[in-house]
Amino acid sequence: MPTLLRLDSSSDPTTSRSRAITQAFADAWTALGDDHVVVHRDLHRDQLPHLSHADLHFPKQLRPEGSVVDPAQEALQAEIIAELTAADVLLVGVPLYNYSMASTLKAWVDYIHVPAVTAPFGDLDTQPMRGKPAVLVSTRGATYDAGTPTEFDDHAIPALSIILGQALGMSVETIVATRTLTERFGGPSAEVAKQHAEFDAALAAAAEAATRLG
Ligand SMILES: Cc1cc2nc3c(=O)[nH]c(=O)nc-3n(C[C@H](O)[C@H](O)[C@H](O)COP(=O)(O)O)c2cc1C
Repeated sequence: MPTLLRLDSSSDPTTSRSRAITQAFADAWTALGDDHVVVHRDLHRDQLPHLSHADLHFPKQLRPEGSVVDPAQEALQAEIIAELTAADVLLVGVPLYNYSMASTLKAWVDYIHVPAVTAPFGDLDTQPMRGKPAVLVSTRGATYDAGTPTEFDDHAIPALSIILGQALGMSVETIVATRTLTERFGGPSAEVAKQHAEFDAALAAAAEAATRLG
């Protein structure tokens, strides 16, 4: 059963571009056959609590002597990690909020990045997600074109690429739609045209990626 884990983190329930693109991916995934499963975790609707203790970043054997963590949160962490490791492909909606990822998505990252469990630690070569695809759907209100002063102002995709790509060993690819607010705020028609072209291309790229990876 090829399983897609789809995460959404946009706090916009109606006009979100990242949700529209992850939906296009999920639709193409399920169109591949009845055996193609989508597990959908909406991190905005069902928000994870922040980690209540730093020791949850480590498995029991790496915690300080006498460490006590909330058992309910430890169980939740195990559930979140099991959901991730059961997936064949990870799809993440990444709206850019204040030049970073949504805090709801960051909370999920804090749960799943655990040295010696999902990432290597010392001699331990623990990378259950190694080689699996992670598709990041990046949506941003402003422009971040190559060669412009804002080219490197997105700090969400670089951080996720380090965690998922380097720490977890996943094969990361990114689908991007910028200028998402240009039309709403009466931007110049050439910029609005670019907004629509990027969004249409992102929808097509999502469907293509789902078909290729599914
Ligand atoms: C809290 C908040 C912070 C934002 N910060 C930025 C930002 O730093 N840079 C940017 O280009 N757009 C920013 N935006 C605009 C969003 O990136 C844009 O609306 C994007 O389309 C959000 O993804 P969505 O369409 O899936 O909701 C922000 C929006 C919100 C709600």
